[in-house]
Order: sequence, then structure tokens, then C-alpha cells
Amino acid sequence: MPRAYIAGTGHYAPPNVVTNQDLVDKFKIDTTNEWIVQRTGIEQRHFAGDGVGPSDLGYEATQMALSRAGLTAADVDFIVFATLSPEHAFPGSGCYLQAKLGIPGVPAMDIRNQCSGFLYALAAAKGLVETGMSKTCLVVGGERHSSGLDLTTEGRQIACLFGDGAGAVVLRATSDEDFEKGRGIRWMNLGADGRFADALSQKVWDNRHAPFIPKDPVTGKGIVEKEKLWCQMDGKQVFKNAVEKMILSVMGMCMENQIEPADLDLVVCHQANLRINEYVRDQLGLSPEKVPNNIQRYGNTTAATIPILLSELEADGRLKRGMKVALVAFGSGFTWGSAYVVW
Ligand code: ACO
Repeated sequence: MPRAYIAGTGHYAPPNVVTNQDLVDKFKIDTTNEWIVQRTGIEQRHFAGDGVGPSDLGYEATQMALSRAGLTAADVDFIVFATLSPEHAFPGSGCYLQAKLGIPGVPAMDIRNQCSGFLYALAAAKGLVETGMSKTCLVVGGERHSSGLDLTTEGRQIACLFGDGAGAVVLRATSDEDFEKGRGIRWMNLGADGRFADALSQKVWDNRHAPFIPKDPVTGKGIVEKEKLWCQMDGKQVFKNAVEKMILSVMGMCMENQIEPADLDLVVCHQANLRINEYVRDQLGLSPEKVPNNIQRYGNTTAATIPILLSELEADGRLKRGMKVALVAFGSGFTWGSAYVVW
């Protein structure tokens, strides 16, 4: 059985940069750069323009990933798209991306696992490649958060955290030679704990009731209460569980693969909060160089964080062939996951 390996990485962020000071000056949010940087590490994020969806961002990231892999869209035979901010309730963003790539007929599916979405998507794609169902599988994480943020003082706890962007990787089957060298995704582990499903959620529609959005009896228009319009988060609960699950996930990965954390060349963490990642890094006893972050420039782009960071690391030479790399994420659900990759 071949292993799946990452043949190319790409990323894209829309050009409009919104600094912490912009949140104060342009959006009139009662916050400060110091408050946000101190608690989250975030200095700026990117916001997409009107009419730009996650599949548009994913399209740009895909072009970079395909080009770096020496491939074209015509080589792609499967699309797995991870997002919590799809253009519409349905169909999925993967179908919109497929149309933009001009490859009708190619299967496209969405994965809805929030901040762990990229790793859940990678696990699905790995299975497709290893079983021979796909030879060149495109895995994309793309988010447009800016339209779902309460950009007022009332929403500041969450509004300061998120940004828009996309990352993509191209997964292919290893050659015999690469297999011998150990290249590829060696191991993956996923987890979830639905007891915390409400700790980080956005319930903009509720399909347990008819109609799924309350209706104004006079006009017939749907009305969404503001508590349901915006994401709700128990920040402290998320923080506590994130550090615990991310550390346990990497430790479990090391045990299963008979390596020590110190043997890892890079640990690429989901970018939710710089403090979470620094805590994970310290508990694993690793140096800052081995646990890189870019949340300072992008904020939390949810399913896109890991592929954006991989793409940047590969472009600037910090991620090289043969390196032992751990990927780890935690997010809403709660869900989490990790991967051990020999690059
Ligand atoms: N600017 C200024 N003040 C703020 C802001 C802001 N942006 N946001 C909240 N505050 C205020 C609150 O109103 C509150 O004021 P009060 O004491 O007068 O009521 C005070 O700061 C403390 O608020 P908390 O929400 O308790 O702040 P906390 O110290 O918990 O920090 C944070 C909030 C940064 C979100 C933190 O809980 C956290 O990092 N949690 C992890 C969650 C996370 O990273 N989520 C990302 C998405 S999930 C994921 O990807 C894994």
C-alpha cells in the first residue's frame, strides 16, 4: 500500500490587512492593541472584500499548491474542502471550487470540523490515496470569517481573534523509492468530545424547529436573534481543553511512533492563540524555532491555519524534505487531531 505524501503547498490571504488599531479606529471597537497582543499574540488579520467566498480564497491557494507540485488542475481527481464558513448552507464550498478549477466530474466533498477541519480533511484524503481511490487529492482549508464577526464592542472577545484566508496541499501516493525513504504521512489520530459542543458554536439556524429560522409573522422574513447570529465561545474552557488535548495528542503520537518530542524537527500547531501554542511548546520542551507561529499576521483562520503555515515554512526554507513534522489542532466540537509526517 502506498503512503500519501504532500507534494505541494500553497496559501492565500486577501490583500486587505486589518490591524488591531484598525479595529479601534475603523470599527469603533472598545479594545486596544496591547489587550489583543498580550492575550492572543494577534497583531493583524486579513478581511476579504464583498462577494469573496472561501472557495475563491481556496482557488488562489490551490493555484500555488499545484504550481509548486508541478501539476495543473487537470491532474486533480478528488477535492476535500475543510471550512466552517462555507458560502451557503449547501452545497459545499468544494463544489464551488471544483467549478472554478474547471474540472467537472471530479468528486468534491466538504469537511465541517472547524479548527480541526484541515486534519480531518487530511485524514480523509490520506485514506483515499492509500486505498487507490485518488491519485492526486487536493486538500483545502478556506475560511471567510469576517462576514460572521460581530465587529462591535459587544462582539470584541471573538471579533479580535479571526481572519480570512486559505491554504491548500496536494496529496499524492509515494513512489517505491519515497516509500523506502519513509516519506509521507506516517500516522494520524483524530478525536472529539461532543459534551463540549456548545462551548464554541454558531447556531445561526436551528433545524430542530420549523421553520429553521424564526419568521416574522407579518413580512414572512426570517429573523435571527443576535445570540444566534454570532459565534458563542467559552474562552477559558476552550483554552484549557486546547492545551490539554494538543499536548496529549503529540505525546500519544510520539509514543505510537517510538520517537521523542525532541526528535521532531517541526511542530506545526493550529493557530488559535499564541499563548496556547507557547504553553504546548514549553510542555513538550521544544525551542521556539521548532514550533513556528504566524497567528501574529493572520489571526485564527480556522481550517486554513495549518496549510497556510506549512506553505510559508516551505517557501522560506524552514520546512525541507526528510524533516520529521508533527501537525496538531484543536477546535470546536470539541475536536482535535494530530499527524506525524516525514516531509
Ligand atoms: N478587548 C478588550 N477587552 C476585552 C476584549 C477585547 N478584545 N475581549 C474581552 N474583553 C474584556 C471582557 O469584556 C472582560 O471584561 P470584564 O472583566 O469587564 O467583563 C475581560 O476582557 C475578560 O474577558 P474574558 O473573555 O474573560 O478574557 P480572557 O482573559 O478569557 O481572554 C480570550 C479571552 C483571549 C478569547 C481567551 O479566553 C482565550 O484565548 N481563549 C482561548 C480561545 C481561543 O483561542 N479561541 C479561538 C477559537 S477556538 C480555536 O481555534 C481552538
